[in-house]
Order: sequence, then structure tokens, then C-alpha cells
Amino acid sequence: MKVTVFAPINVALIKYWGKEDNQLRLPANDSLSVCLTNLGTTTTVEWDKNLNQDLADSRMKRQLDKVRKIAQINWRAKVVTKNNFPSGAGLSSSASGLAALTLAATAAAGLKLPEKDLSRLARLGSGSACRSIPDGWVEWSKGDDKTSYAKTIFPTDYWNLRILVVIVSDKKKLVSSTAGQELAFTSPFYKARVKSMAAKIKKIKAAIKQKNFTELGKIMEADCLNMHRVMRTQQPELNYLLPETKTVMQAVKKWREEGLESYFTINTGQNALVFCEPKNENKLVERLEKIEGVIEVRRDKIGKGARLLT
Ligand code: DP6
Repeated sequence: MKVTVFAPINVALIKYWGKEDNQLRLPANDSLSVCLTNLGTTTTVEWDKNLNQDLADSRMKRQLDKVRKIAQINWRAKVVTKNNFPSGAGLSSSASGLAALTLAATAAAGLKLPEKDLSRLARLGSGSACRSIPDGWVEWSKGDDKTSYAKTIFPTDYWNLRILVVIVSDKKKLVSSTAGQELAFTSPFYKARVKSMAAKIKKIKAAIKQKNFTELGKIMEADCLNMHRVMRTQQPELNYLLPETKTVMQAVKKWREEGLESYFTINTGQNALVFCEPKNENKLVERLEKIEGVIEVRRDKIGKGARLLT
């Protein structure tokens, strides 16, 4: 059977940086994200008994092995996958890519896994991929192999916020999130970060519940800056931000002081994600597009998780 799926990227407001188990991709802390509507990966998988090797890259092959084991098949797969945004540039292409592959490969093998099991399986491919399976506002709990998965905590249409994806470069990062995370513990700030995470999650959930945008934005931005401080103080140091990224960060702060409210977050890459309320979207896009070095601003909003297209 041939199956095509779409999985969105997800943007973490409270980030995952550091694992308790590298093999099982068990995170050191809980994290919280939203799935987007437009940006994501479309993947087609077809299992074929006549193929003698998988038509896929090595990370995907390892994920296909896991699906073969569960489905008890030994066929090879033909995989066609496409991101509608720059890959490897801080926009979570491994999250949408591995989530899409997990759903497509299991469905094409005739499996109908419950959401929880799909999320767990996606997690084994890339930690953050488990958060691209459920819809809307999503929390990924730390725990063991059985209990560490993501679930919806507020539905897609709960709160109409806008996410502006600010692309300053499509250059691929030199150090992957996986490699970078393995050395997170070398930062003198890492332990304190991990210890502070449960309280942060509690606070941001309360802000979401009250739909308090200012509170949400402050907690989100502070967590992003805290994660990047850990990265910068790791051995060797990691710095994913370009001068253009910093210009965007400074502009967002300045406009906010002047009354135009928005907050940024950034992953392992140079591109920024700016959260705002719909009333400020047009003005912000107009201003962001004028910043020297900004190539493109993509508009997005909170959306559903991975789903079958055919
Ligand atoms: C900075 O999920 O890409 O985007 O589990 O090793 O594949 P692996 O790492 P990955 O790390 C994402 C890190 C982050 C923060 C986040 O999305 O929570």
C-alpha cells in the first residue's frame, strides 16, 4: 500500500535541550509546543517486496527498521519526502520529517496505531517529532519509553495566535540538534535549567489557560534565551544565531517597548519565530520584511498534527 501524509513543524515555547537517554531519546525535561498549519513535510511511503534496499536516508532507514519490527514485515520502502520550507535551518525539519515518516510508514504497513503509540515511535526518530503528531497545543512529558510521549493540552482553535516565520538565511546548521544536545551537560547553567523547567511549564500552562498573551510571551522568550545561554556555554560552544537573527530579536523588543507587542523564539538555527495576536500581524509583517537581511516572512497559525492525505 502507498500512503501520503502531511506533518506540520511544531514550535516549542518551552524547549527540549538535553536527554536522559540518548538511545531512547528521553528528554531531561517536559516541553510544550504548538503545531503550525502551513509549514511542514509531505511524505509518501510504499513498501515493496521487490526492492532490495530502502530508498531513504540513514536516519529514515533506522526509523523504517522500527516500523518493520512492529509490523513484522521484511520489505523495503520507497520514500518520497518534501519540506515546504528550508531544512536544517532552525525550523524543526527533523520534527515534521520524522513525524510524517512514522505515520506514513505505519499506515502503509496496514497498522493503525493509537496517537500515543505513534508519538512514542516518532520520538525514537527525533525527540521533537513526537510533538508533531497530536493537534494544537501539545505537551511532551519526560518519563520512560512507555510514558514519554506528547499529547494535546488545548485544541487547535483554542486561541487564535499568529506565528511569523522570519527567514534570514537558508544555510544549513553545522552542528545538529542531536550532537549539540549530547554536550548540553558541559554548560555550568545546564543543571539549573533542568531544575527550573517544571515550574516554567506550570506557569506557561496557566498563561495559556487565561489567554494572557503578555505572560505567555515573556515566559516563552525567557526560555529561548535561557536555552541559548546553555548552548553558548557548552564545550565546545554553540552559537546558532547570525547577526541578522540578533537584529530581528532586538527589533521585536524595541517595537514591544513602543506598544507593538510580539515575542520571539529560536531553535537550533538562525531563523526566528515571532508570536503575535492577529490585530498586530500585518503591521509586524510589514516591519519585519523591511529589516535588512530578512529574506522572507511566512505567516502561520496553530494547526493540526500529522494526518493522512491519501
Ligand atoms: C532546540 O528533536 O531535533 O528545537 O531528539 O536529537 O532529534 P533529537 O533533537 P531535536 O531537538 C530539538 C531541539 C530544539 C528545541 C525543541 O524543539 O524543543
